[in-house]
Amino acid sequence: MKQIIQLLKLALQERKRMALSFLCTFFVAGFTYVFVNLVQPIIDEMFVRSPVSGVPDKMRFMDFVFQTLGISKEKIVVAIPLIVVAVILGKGLFTFLSSYLMKSVGHRVVKRMRDDLYVHILYQSPAYFDRVPTGDLMSRLTNDVDKIQQSLSGSLGDFIEELFTLLALLVGIFIIDWHLALVSFVVTPLAAVPLAAFSRILKRKGLKNQREMARIYNLLHETISGHKVVKAFTMEKFELGKFMEATRRYFQTSLKLAWVSSLSSPFMEFLGGVVGAFILYVGSRRIGEGVISPGDFGAFVMAVFMMYMPIKRLSKANNSIQQAVACHERIREVQQAVPEIQEAPDAYPLPRVRGAVKFDSVSFAYNESRPALQEVSFEAPACTTAAFVGLSGGGKTTIISLLTRFYEPSSGRITIDGIDIREVTLESLRAQIGLVTQDIILFNDTVRNNIAYGLKDISSEDVIRAARAARAHDFIMELPEGYETQIGERGGLLSSGQRQRLAIARALLKDPPILILDEATSALDSESERLIQEALARIKKNRTTLIIAHRLSTIRGADRIFVIDHGRLCEAGTHEELCRLNGIYMRLYDLQFPEEGERVR
Ligand SMILES: Nc1ncnc2c1ncn2[C@@H]1O[C@H](COP(=O)(O)OP(=O)(O)OP(=O)(O)O)[C@@H](O)[C@H]1O
Ligand SMILES: [Mg+2]
Repeated sequence: MKQIIQLLKLALQERKRMALSFLCTFFVAGFTYVFVNLVQPIIDEMFVRSPVSGVPDKMRFMDFVFQTLGISKEKIVVAIPLIVVAVILGKGLFTFLSSYLMKSVGHRVVKRMRDDLYVHILYQSPAYFDRVPTGDLMSRLTNDVDKIQQSLSGSLGDFIEELFTLLALLVGIFIIDWHLALVSFVVTPLAAVPLAAFSRILKRKGLKNQREMARIYNLLHETISGHKVVKAFTMEKFELGKFMEATRRYFQTSLKLAWVSSLSSPFMEFLGGVVGAFILYVGSRRIGEGVISPGDFGAFVMAVFMMYMPIKRLSKANNSIQQAVACHERIREVQQAVPEIQEAPDAYPLPRVRGAVKFDSVSFAYNESRPALQEVSFEAPACTTAAFVGLSGGGKTTIISLLTRFYEPSSGRITIDGIDIREVTLESLRAQIGLVTQDIILFNDTVRNNIAYGLKDISSEDVIRAARAARAHDFIMELPEGYETQIGERGGLLSSGQRQRLAIARALLKDPPILILDEATSALDSESERLIQEALARIKKNRTTLIIAHRLSTIRGADRIFVIDHGRLCEAGTHEELCRLNGIYMRLYDLQFPEEGERVR
């Protein structure tokens, strides 16, 4: 019951429609009530008291028909079939209305839920996405939400409708003969015990089933987006095996679910049958005692048989609602996830900065086991270029992720122009940073829209200017539709170097006071890189640039170079100073430029 109330609460967002729908189901129940009560006059007036009863003579029957037309008593007989038609028509109309209204409630609630879920996912911090697999989230947004929609649109409406009908029928039979009704219902509570057991099992299995579905989504997502690697390593059979294992598990839990849900209806029906047989026995004795007429008993039996359907549908609706409740729990898990990075309650927008970046003994760990950064302190004055070098896995990208506040340092302070970045709003902070990430992310859209991503009212000239500075204009013009060319999922129709140049153009167009290039030119030939460097040098004058590069020629001209190793800042200085220091930097340099290294020494 608690869970049905939870679902009802969801549906209550659409109060008006719900109320209307309930009103309609109320009418449906009312018509059912009338219908059952018609049975008594049909039997008693039309059959039992009719002169034709027990006389199988054809002529007499015609007499009866003539008489019917003449005598007022027989007018009821004419009226009854008309009333039957009217009642069935009325019941049908209100069934249609209540069903449509309930479906629309389901669709509306679910649209809102999907949007809300998406907002929650969008605003999660990166750590959340490190933890929760993409396929899992997708499955919650599609599959689980669908189940709730089905349940709200169909089952919840059924549930209410059948409950009303059941109530109407109950009232009906108690009015006909409360004694007989009471006797019949001694057996009924028996039904509650198995129904509760079925619900419990269904919910548990439903949850498991959705988890297995999420696993399938994950596999699909990984192998489809990573199809090249799968092929290159001829892992098709391996992946197929994994997939078949996942579908097998889903299949098994589905079968168990099917087993329980298929069993519940016939089982409840059987219980109904037992009750029916019992009533037949007691009822026939009541007629013998002369307490009720055959018509009354007919109506009673009709009502009891009509309860059959609602009970059956109630147990079916209960199945679907239990599954929906399980899905709702999975959705609430997402809705209740709080982003790790929170703005301070009194956060204010960061005014346009000059771009002096300072790390003050910053430490950070992705997980408790191993620190990613230890006591890192450095300063990049406004409008200068700072470069970070070091072996792979040293912590360079991590430094950038802390500056953009994707993650929070465990200790230490990061300031821009002397303002602690924890004091300002996330939006205003990130608005002042242009980031070219190490793995380029482009969207399945046109070249133009990818460059202008996140910016409003951008003229074509601006886009072209940024593209020229990023040395992307020429290759864009060679694309089939120039700036309007669709570049495919994740920019898959472009080469890696082309993707990098689009990403650089995107960062340049944003015109931020702080520009971050994380291995932004690693896929480019030396000539293109040199040209981009020149373009950058031109616009570097009034912005702080943070460059990460393995290719030391990229960073040689930087105002300050920081060497990061195993999460620590080991060396700092200009290229010349670091060469003189003859430490890690010099070793790296030697490896890349053996002859020059000799000369510098
Ligand atoms: N999302 C993450 N979750 C957990 N650990 C991470 C995550 N990202 C990076 N790490 C770990 O943090 C350390 C530093 O990673 P980081 O990406 O900063 O290195 P990097 O210097 O940028 O390396 P590269 O030159 O290869 O890009 C590595 O040991 C890495 O395993
Ligand atoms: Mg990196």
